[in-house]
Amino acid sequence: MSNYQHYVKTHLSKLLAALGLDISYTRAAGDTLYYRDRHGEEIPVLDLLGGYGSLIFGHNHPQIMATATDLIAQQVPVHAQFSLRERAGELARRLSGMVQRESGSEEEFNVTFANSGAEAIEVAIKHAELDRILKLQTLLDDVTLNIERVQKAIRNGTAKVPVDVYRHSPIREQVFDVRGFEELIVGLVSHNTTQLVKRPIFLVLEKSFHGKLIGSVQLTYNKNFRRPFQYFGLNTRFISPHDPDQLRRVLAEERIVLYDLDVQDGVVRVVERPIPIFAAFLVEPIQGEGGVHMLDADFAKLVRKTCNELDCPLIVDEIQSGMGRSGSFLASTLIPLKGDYYTLSKSLGGGLAKISATLIRKSRVRKEFSLVHSSTFAEDDFSSGIALKVLDMLEADDGKAYHQVQDSAAKLFAAFERVRAAFPDVIKEVRGQGLFIGVEFHSQKNASSIIIRGSAYNDSFGYLLSGYLLHQERIRIAPPGSAPNVLRIEPSMFLSDAQVAHVEAAFGRLCDIVRKQDALHFVFPLTASSRAKPRREAQDFSQAFPAQPAADSRFEPTRPVRKIAFINHLINPQLLTEVDPSLAVLTAEELRQFVLKMDPNKKAAPYPAVRIHSPLGSAVDFILYPLCVSSEQMGQYLADGKLDGIRDDIQDRIKAASEDGCEIAGLGMFTSIVTNNCLSLRVPDTALTTGNAFTVAMAIDAIDNAVAAAGLPIEELTVVVVGAAGNIASTYASLLSEKTTRLILLGSERNGSLSRLNQTLHSIYDDTWQEICTLPREKLGRLAQRLVREPLVAEWLEEGTAPQRGRGKAIAQYVAERHGHDPYITVSTDRSLIRRGHIVLCAANSAEPFLTGEDFRENAIVCDIAVPNNVCEGIGKDRPDVVYQQGGIVATPNGESLHPGARAFLGAGQLFACMAETVIMGLAGINRHYSYGAISKQQVREIAALGRAHGFSLAEYKTGSSL
Ligand SMILES: Cc1ncc(COP(=O)(O)O)c(C=O)c1O
Repeated sequence: MSNYQHYVKTHLSKLLAALGLDISYTRAAGDTLYYRDRHGEEIPVLDLLGGYGSLIFGHNHPQIMATATDLIAQQVPVHAQFSLRERAGELARRLSGMVQRESGSEEEFNVTFANSGAEAIEVAIKHAELDRILKLQTLLDDVTLNIERVQKAIRNGTAKVPVDVYRHSPIREQVFDVRGFEELIVGLVSHNTTQLVKRPIFLVLEKSFHGKLIGSVQLTYNKNFRRPFQYFGLNTRFISPHDPDQLRRVLAEERIVLYDLDVQDGVVRVVERPIPIFAAFLVEPIQGEGGVHMLDADFAKLVRKTCNELDCPLIVDEIQSGMGRSGSFLASTLIPLKGDYYTLSKSLGGGLAKISATLIRKSRVRKEFSLVHSSTFAEDDFSSGIALKVLDMLEADDGKAYHQVQDSAAKLFAAFERVRAAFPDVIKEVRGQGLFIGVEFHSQKNASSIIIRGSAYNDSFGYLLSGYLLHQERIRIAPPGSAPNVLRIEPSMFLSDAQVAHVEAAFGRLCDIVRKQDALHFVFPLTASSRAKPRREAQDFSQAFPAQPAADSRFEPTRPVRKIAFINHLINPQLLTEVDPSLAVLTAEELRQFVLKMDPNKKAAPYPAVRIHSPLGSAVDFILYPLCVSSEQMGQYLADGKLDGIRDDIQDRIKAASEDGCEIAGLGMFTSIVTNNCLSLRVPDTALTTGNAFTVAMAIDAIDNAVAAAGLPIEELTVVVVGAAGNIASTYASLLSEKTTRLILLGSERNGSLSRLNQTLHSIYDDTWQEICTLPREKLGRLAQRLVREPLVAEWLEEGTAPQRGRGKAIAQYVAERHGHDPYITVSTDRSLIRRGHIVLCAANSAEPFLTGEDFRENAIVCDIAVPNNVCEGIGKDRPDVVYQQGGIVATPNGESLHPGARAFLGAGQLFACMAETVIMGLAGINRHYSYGAISKQQVREIAALGRAHGFSLAEYKTGSSL
């Protein structure tokens, strides 16, 4: 891990790695960034991200570097605060002149310098609020004076109060029950006092981006950035630039007034004075982060008019769109839109300095501001000197630079348009102004490739494209923060024809890949593979899966169809090749590396719902919410005791399912184990289940079938339960004890395993005692029949002396002492005992299979309900005599099937038993947690009965070789 990953942005670095964007650049010049590959070779990358629009002259432009060197050589003062800083002064004069020219303003501008874009915005809103507060103070002083004047006039008898003043309807709403003049004054003053403390409102456009500091982030539309910090302060109303009526509605909703008094012709009147509640209106002439959208000219007119009417300053944020990026010094000139304040940054620093500027129309400047605002680093001679050079370069030769931007832009735009024309199904729109271009792709939410669909689901489709462009085409690009389907392009004005051609060809290949849904090209760079990419051209996988069949018209659900979710994960990375066939050419290790890379974001897109109908009339929509995490990783989390992250991931999936309307969520495979059988989850609105009860029920059926098929008497057979220390296996063993009295409970050699096995033993005896107490003799299972003959049990029954607690343990001890050993149930950690089992039930939690053909006796019946399985692949070939079955697979009522890519080891018409339990809960209307924490025999019996009633049955059991 690099120092940056370790000490700076640890989590973000992992996300960058998952997208293949974890590159450390070592050099930059013009439109090219360079990094060194693993062989030390310098790799050039065409940089279309351009410092988020800061590089209108490219990286390290020689003339700007020369200016920087010169400034350093001159030893210009970087720190000379609280003095007359003439370079900053000269820069301000130039900027003021240029903005005057662009906006056609007669008035000069005053400039406050800062160090970043967000800071410039904070300067602007801080000044706007100071202005508002001072206006408010003047208003309040006027009102106070007027009220005093009217009071005096009444006392002098020169003014009268007509009764209708008290009936003045808005006052009646605010100040009720006023009977006399003094009461009216008290009412007015108290109303005015409550209005004065109302927080200012900033009007901002939807999709806006104005920075990420504490104030500016509240002016930024993306709620992921803004929401966590909402209580810090700013009060913002977001306005749709496409709905002028909404702006009018907001103005009406937020209007508040002070009540003032006036005397006209000797009569007192109540006058409303609107409070300047709107501190400022902020707009970007071209929204960058929001997805490259130019402000509509008509709407811009409305904004200007509104600001004039409200006397509220209009802040034009040109931080990204300014400095020539649009082909004009200011993008607002092109709309046209005139601001009261302007903010500039990015290319103002020439790619070398950190500088921003807030320009305020002189007539609006409050003199107090310069006393209450300062910054150590602002106004320095170094940044100011560089910014002056930038202005020289922009303005030289009658603004040749602006024409150069327009020329380069026209070529680039035309290139993108040609690609769009060839791939209208992939690219939705190419838009922008000058070298500020957005290429919007069609949504891939319904893509047939799960990798592509998943990126759309996670709002990272643009990043997926960026990863490909970086690794395969050596183009650096990124989507803006709030528009995941858009790629934003902001190169320098020096982009060459050859570079434009390179971009066009690369985008053509990219679109071909997306059209053909060949995710290999996105995944391969993330596999850490050292071999050449296995396929250069895109191959067509767009038809890899049949379309989702329409709802079966034979069925008419009698009740509303419930949505239920199932959280599954990749049993092993190779299964990805079934999930997304374009990956079939990858090796097991490459797939493994890819899955490991996905660790910071494991969410895959949900599969389309499968409707499952019960013969009793109900139906459910069953939806898989997959996590891209392998059993190996799950085993590692368990081994390391690092479960918080994966538990959060599982919880997030359940919450997403709940937001989609799912009422029940089942947990599959390792997701139940790592959540301690759901117990660690906190999801209030969802009924949860591990599906363990039905898994056990189906395994019992599987064994019954196999025993019947072999024509063997089960009561004479020895049953070994592997992993018997766990709850599932112990419930299973307890159920089997009803059929046979030759049980072997086998545990691992891990610490504490023996004592957990003994607990299983005790609970089997306790269950059996309960059975003896509740069932008639003829219905007793095998073990119970034996136990009633044991003198201790007979005595407890006759004399009612059974202890309240510890009965299972007491029976176990008694039986062992009386017979010299336990003749019914053996507890052991000795793996060789498996060979005694006619029937072996495998239910151990293990990330890897560990049982082979050598472990089993001749003709053994092996039922493997563990996921991942306990028995190694190949058992069917090595030991054809062994009947190997995975009891966990069941047939759906009408042959309903999972999506072909999501079946893992299942065939058509099949589900894993844990999935089936979730479905049965939905069909049976169960609204509470079911297999949650430990399961009981009673639950197994109940769910087995419900499963049968709703049409589920054990599927034909599978043999090892079919795995
Ligand atoms: C329009 C606009 N305003 C403000 C900012 C914030 O600038 P900074 O990232 O320098 O704080 C940006 C940055 O992208 C921007 O595009």
